[in-house]
Amino acid sequence: MGQCLSHFWDKTLKENKQTSELNDSVLMRACRREPTPFTPIWLMRQAGRYMPEYRELRSKVGFLELCKRPSLAAEVTVTAAERLGVDAAIIFADILLILEPMGIALEFSKGDGPLIHNPVRTSDDVDRLREFEEVQELDFVYEAIRQTRAALPGKVPLIGFSGAPFTLASYVVEGGASRNFIHAKTLMYNDAGAWHAMMSLISRALIKYLNAQIEAGAQVVQLFDSWVGCLGPADYVTYVLPYTRNVIAGIKPGIPVIHFGTGTASLLEAMREAGGNVIGLDWRVPLDQGWDRVGRNFGIMGNLDPVALFADQKRIREQARQILAQAAGRPGHIFNLGHGILPNTPVENVIALVNDVHELSSGD
Ligand code: CP3
Repeated sequence: MGQCLSHFWDKTLKENKQTSELNDSVLMRACRREPTPFTPIWLMRQAGRYMPEYRELRSKVGFLELCKRPSLAAEVTVTAAERLGVDAAIIFADILLILEPMGIALEFSKGDGPLIHNPVRTSDDVDRLREFEEVQELDFVYEAIRQTRAALPGKVPLIGFSGAPFTLASYVVEGGASRNFIHAKTLMYNDAGAWHAMMSLISRALIKYLNAQIEAGAQVVQLFDSWVGCLGPADYVTYVLPYTRNVIAGIKPGIPVIHFGTGTASLLEAMREAGGNVIGLDWRVPLDQGWDRVGRNFGIMGNLDPVALFADQKRIREQARQILAQAAGRPGHIFNLGHGILPNTPVENVIALVNDVHELSSGD
């Protein structure tokens, strides 16, 4: 009995210690806009095809299968974070996983990226979408989060994520990648009722899904609105903003939210209205100007051009130095790329960038 109790206290003390270590980590401090000894850095798509370890695993296991096997997803997540020396891990998954339980038939085909076999084009199609009732349908994601959290050092927070409502809707309607988003915008313009119904359904699903990721052990969540830059500001405000705002407002209080998009130069003020503690910028907006427009009461994430990582290391260091100079040591900057790491990026350049950012931003 006594032994049992002391075991209980040991475990509780250990958990409390880990919680406070995580809370004091550089990434969490930056999310709260508190001063940090150096600028935290992590990289979107830090686990992926540019890494030989990942390619090796992928030669044996399909992408969706990898996402659905928690021990493998955890291994990929932890390996990337350790190899790069970054200040956060992001759970290995995909923004589109949430679509399967909603009745969307998803496939990742070789070379073509994601493919949806039953895209939504009409209000009848929208009616056929399923409400995401059973949060456990994506248990493999939560289990991967639990295993990853247990394997990561206490100073490295784990980021959960999903697509933002618009980017998910764009895949649902287009059926895959798109250049002009003609199907998505046509539905939006011709049948606003169906559009709004679909966006509400997706938003309800996202709130449940993201909170379940937090429950499983994610310290931060990120919304990827990767393709929102195809919209003008008026359409963003009418057709997108209310839904992204609902999702962010529905996330467990106290958990920082990173709200990221690309091509958002004309949308930053509206994105700020939708919310998030940290706004993620792409590389087309100078970081200082972007931060001024978003407002200094937000954190900022970004924003090196992913293609800069193909240049030589001297040039990469200069670019990093410029971005850090724009951030000017103000609390609340998280260094990242302006979009995900591209396949074929030299791993040693990514590692050099992480070291550069740590070194250049250290106080002494
Ligand atoms: O960042 C990480 O390391 C975590 C893992 C992660 C993946 N996808 C793994 C993945 C994250 C955060 C994503 C997000 C994601 N997925 C986005 C938003 C980020 C962005 O780049 O805008 C989007 C749009 C998707 C949808 C998606 N998934 C596409 C367009 C593709 C194919 C194109 C591509 O880049 O490969 C995927 C597949 C995918 N998701 C891969 C990985 C590692 C490659 C799959 C493979 O191994 O072949």
